[in-house]
Amino acid sequence: MDTNSLEKIANDLVAPGKGILAADESNGTMSKRLEAVGVEATESNRRAYRVNLFATKGYENSISGVILYDETIRQHMDNGESIPGAMLKRGVYPGIKVDTGAKELANHNGEKITEGLDGLRDRCIEYYQLGARFAKWRAVITIQDGMPSDACIKVNAHALARYAAICQEQGLVPIIEPEVLMEGDHTSQRCLEVTSKILDETFSECIMQGVHLPGALLKPNMILPGNNNSEEITRKNIAELTIECLSKHVPKEIPGIVFLSGGQSDEDATAHLNIMNKMDIKQPWELSFSYGRALQAEALKEWAVGTAESSQQSFLKRAEMNHKARSGEWAEELE
Ligand code: 13P
Repeated sequence: MDTNSLEKIANDLVAPGKGILAADESNGTMSKRLEAVGVEATESNRRAYRVNLFATKGYENSISGVILYDETIRQHMDNGESIPGAMLKRGVYPGIKVDTGAKELANHNGEKITEGLDGLRDRCIEYYQLGARFAKWRAVITIQDGMPSDACIKVNAHALARYAAICQEQGLVPIIEPEVLMEGDHTSQRCLEVTSKILDETFSECIMQGVHLPGALLKPNMILPGNNNSEEITRKNIAELTIECLSKHVPKEIPGIVFLSGGQSDEDATAHLNIMNKMDIKQPWELSFSYGRALQAEALKEWAVGTAESSQQSFLKRAEMNHKARSGEWAEELE
């Protein structure tokens, strides 16, 4: 394992002012997103939307890396350059989603286990050759009565650590993503308890399996009430609960925490990150973003009904707002 190279990539990905664009929607998810804005879901439309995003001038000032899907990492920009090649030229690291999706967990109705460990070493070798320098694996944890089960927590944590170890062996920085879903009627307190549990289990597995924490990034959810819970909670409370959870359950050796947006509004995702970065207590890790929807939702709508340029402007605006949130300099008036 080349620990120096892994640490450099991990630190570059969370360099001051910078964060990650998650554009790794699987073909199924991306097709649904296109259809939702009235666009036919074809390979050429998925490519056209994404290459327009990646051609945005100046996005590299706020974006250090882009997570791609298997289809996209093999595609080309309009000028014929490979997509990962065009990113590397601009100082942006290409990343790759390497899991093969969350599947039903046997004997645990309604719970999921993320698959993709079989053949992962060979896929990592190929993705590195294609230009990838970091990777993502997403575990999905649902909160409901009696859920998550201990089994769901354990098997997902185990798989995250196995993934992370294989990626590092092949020179890819693993983004470790145990996502506790926002869907449900749970309280923020319950989200905090479940997130604490999956983080503890994940890092205990990572340490046991020899994952080099300074060469890895964590991608967690923020601590939020379920989307069907009417709990009154301020942005400040959310930021404080999130920091409370992370400071107790994330090892300080991790260089950066890159949040997912998980269905929050674009502005909430930015505001929460901003408050966390504005707090007086300095955290041991960088607090950054790896947003999918919160960076792209408007850009996709604009691409479908507006112009290629207005889509780029929408993306650039969200990237710049989150760039400001990285140092606590975002304000509502800037929106
Ligand atoms: P969202 O920010 O839309 O949650 O996507 C981030 C991601 O990559 C989820 O795996």
